[in-house]
Amino acid sequence: MDFKRILVTAALPYANGPVHIGHLAGCYLPADIYVRYQRAQKRDIKFVCGSDEHGVPITIRAMKEGITPQDVVDKYNAIIKDSFEQMGISFDIYSRTSNKIHHETSQAFFKKLYDDGLFEEKESEQYYDEEAKVFLADRYILGTCPVCANENAYGDQCEKCGSSLSPEQLINPRSALSKAVPVKKKTKHWYFPLNKYEQWLKEWIVEGKKDEWKANVYGQCKSWLDNGLQPRAMTRDSNWGVSVPLPDAEGKVLYVWFDAPIGYISATKELTPMWSDYWQQEDTKLVHFIGKDNIVFHCIIFPAMLKAHGKYVLPDNVPANEFLNIEGDKVSTSRNWAVWVHEYIKDFPEQQDVLRYVLCANAPETKDNDFTWKDFQDRTNSELVSIFGNFVNRAFVLMHKLCNGKVPKLHQDVLDDADKALIQDIQNAKTNVEADIENYKFRDALYEIIDLARKGNKYMQDKEPWIVAKSLAENPDNQKLIDNCLHLCLQLTANLAILINPFLPYTAKKMCGMMKVVDRMLEWENAGKLNLLNVCYPLKAPELLFRKIEDDEIKAQVEKLHANLVQSQNAAKKMEETQQNATNNADATPDVTQKAEITIDDFMKIDLRVATILHAEKVEKADKLLKLELDLGFEKRTVVSGIAQHHKPEDIIGKQVTVVANLAPRKMKGIESKGMILMAQNNDGRLIFVSPLETADNGSDVK
Ligand code: MF3
Ligand code: ZN
Repeated sequence: MDFKRILVTAALPYANGPVHIGHLAGCYLPADIYVRYQRAQKRDIKFVCGSDEHGVPITIRAMKEGITPQDVVDKYNAIIKDSFEQMGISFDIYSRTSNKIHHETSQAFFKKLYDDGLFEEKESEQYYDEEAKVFLADRYILGTCPVCANENAYGDQCEKCGSSLSPEQLINPRSALSKAVPVKKKTKHWYFPLNKYEQWLKEWIVEGKKDEWKANVYGQCKSWLDNGLQPRAMTRDSNWGVSVPLPDAEGKVLYVWFDAPIGYISATKELTPMWSDYWQQEDTKLVHFIGKDNIVFHCIIFPAMLKAHGKYVLPDNVPANEFLNIEGDKVSTSRNWAVWVHEYIKDFPEQQDVLRYVLCANAPETKDNDFTWKDFQDRTNSELVSIFGNFVNRAFVLMHKLCNGKVPKLHQDVLDDADKALIQDIQNAKTNVEADIENYKFRDALYEIIDLARKGNKYMQDKEPWIVAKSLAENPDNQKLIDNCLHLCLQLTANLAILINPFLPYTAKKMCGMMKVVDRMLEWENAGKLNLLNVCYPLKAPELLFRKIEDDEIKAQVEKLHANLVQSQNAAKKMEETQQNATNNADATPDVTQKAEITIDDFMKIDLRVATILHAEKVEKADKLLKLELDLGFEKRTVVSGIAQHHKPEDIIGKQVTVVANLAPRKMKGIESKGMILMAQNNDGRLIFVSPLETADNGSDVK
């Protein structure tokens, strides 16, 4: 089928955190490359995206940060939008599902299906928090994991052992909101009968898309369809989301996976009054770029909704990527194992194209892939710098040296086989890159382009115009050979700019500047041409297109990753301890987790001493710290101790305490602390001195 226009969507990211490079590689970068290419082809194309601002992930984040859901989405929408802009992701619109137009559009969509009698109304029992007076999504129910006894498993999953759970399986379930024991309560919801669309979906996908869709996408769809589809609730009990547009639906909102994909429609509406052409005309090609966790929603549920509505086009393709791991480990936002886009931009200013390059060259198109900083460095230095950048730079330098800084003539009479082969290579590259992009094979396309630059380097190396130049005195006619070589190298440079433009737009722009051509040269119809730069046209001095990535930059990034991990583990531990304390307070069970066994030698390493507190005072701007002067008999020293909330300075002066005397000194609030006081922590959290029962000599050994 011939399409008149293209509508490209990229998954609406949840506005509950910043975006990381896995997001970019999975969905936004391939979408942007595709769109930039289609724009260069001068096709009628729109590129829409926006923040997904509803659903449980947002409310959870709000709870964690102690702010409102609105605060959460405002904060992250701004960060995400900026990250995309900085990385050159060229949406025609980046909208938000909290916009009025979206609420109206998704409600009207729901209402249409409702009025057509499509929904099945069903009552079911669901967990309810009687204190907070809300129904609890599975994620809001905590309890003990039946598999590994983790006391903080969620109602849908235990993060400790990875088991997927249902709330019914949790031992001692409690509400994450109020800690109350949840009770079952009846609630009514509207179900979309996916089962009734199973047959149609099978025909559409299994028969129609098998050869068109990527194998990973088709495979997932097939297995869903083989397992049979069930009706799915399209509403939820919540106060955050698009409210259900029915009179008897107080406290009910649209299921986030019902409203979010409709966000694509709302965003198009916001973008153009011609929105219905893009959504309701048969000759629109609709393409959804997503990550693999979104496949079922975009290939099965949303198409069934669109089909049920009846007035919309269906996706032509859903080119989903797999996941990008980081340094051999799955991305985890809770463990902070991720490379955040906004941080990359800070750490590597002006280096957007380098990241775009690495993420595309290594994109997880057919299977999960790994991002490593070493690979980032290697690809940048050995492909972008040594091949692409080097070729362009040499062509410019030699043109200035050997051709007076102007584009030399092409002399047909001395054109040889190597010249002709290079011309053929340029034209082949155009055809191949085009086919690869149209088929969503962005890695292959990018490889073709680098390979063309590689061929350019080889051609130049074989021709050696700098050697030919030495023979000019004897043989002035040889200037023709030099001219031909540099003429072709410069035309190749112009072609490289056109081909690389969808992938590395900042680089293409720089190249246009050097060649003193307008951006219009980058239009795709110019690819493959050999008259892009006019003969005798003076060009600028070369600018370096890429810089080398140094070892210490990479080292710093790897260290940062690991530091983030440790930090998040400490934060998680603290959280767990607070929760543990809370539970301990409630049922007065002491902390029974024991530390690993040690030997007497281990213990002997600790120099424990008795000391007397000579002086105590509060530390300024630290509500937990006291500065203590201790008498250790053989010396006096300062120790900073985190006991200010439990003991007043005046109450403890003169007391004897036990000190870890050989602890490495550390600075707290600018005060050097030499040692640590032993305290016992009560179940209620109080800190109690561990002191000799009778007065002991200061400095005496504790063993
Ligand atoms: N917010 C979802 C996610 O990040 C994606 C939503 S895509 C849409 O996984 F189609 F629903 F918009
Ligand atoms: Zn578990």
